[in-house]
Amino acid sequence: MHNDIKEILLTTEQIEAKAAELAKQLEIDYADKKPVLLGLLKGSVPFIGDLMKCMNIPVQIEFMDVSSYHGGTASTGQVKILKDIDISVEGRHIIIVEDIVDTGFTLDKVIALLKHRGAASVEVVTMLDKPEGRVVVMEPKYIGFTIPKAFVVGYGLDYDEYYRNLPYVGILKEEVYMN
Ligand code: IMP
Repeated sequence: MHNDIKEILLTTEQIEAKAAELAKQLEIDYADKKPVLLGLLKGSVPFIGDLMKCMNIPVQIEFMDVSSYHGGTASTGQVKILKDIDISVEGRHIIIVEDIVDTGFTLDKVIALLKHRGAASVEVVTMLDKPEGRVVVMEPKYIGFTIPKAFVVGYGLDYDEYYRNLPYVGILKEEVYMN
């Protein structure tokens, strides 16, 4: 598994420290709002875990599963809802937690849906941002790290459902997905 990684971009320590920093900002911005942290499965799992542990305010944790990649390394622009949120979002302050923003299609669709359902506010906290990949206008309010346009895995991010358990974010060797 580790042999398939070309370069380690971010270590566990770096990501945990950044999550703690973002959590403190969220604590301030959402102090009296009882927000919903809405993780997008499955990639956001380690990062939402880091964030929630550091947020010392009342917060609910929810998940949605939407897919845009279908196993490859390039976004298709098609977004499917595989698992919907379990609660009503009407009047709620939603903080979507994402692993990485690339084209922006996924968040564009999810944000529009939550607003349509009457959410009081919708913001995004993402572990990683790849702005060079953007196709739709999408500026997450809370960004962990901005990275170059490479295909990365680990810390929740997958290639064909593998590598999510790597304790760091690394660039996948091209030969792994070219074969
Ligand atoms: P977007 O809809 O193109 O912004 O893509 C968002 C989703 O695509 C993320 O939640 C990831 O699941 C996936 N994705 C985008 N870039 C990468 C990457 O470099 N590695 C692994 N998954 C990625």
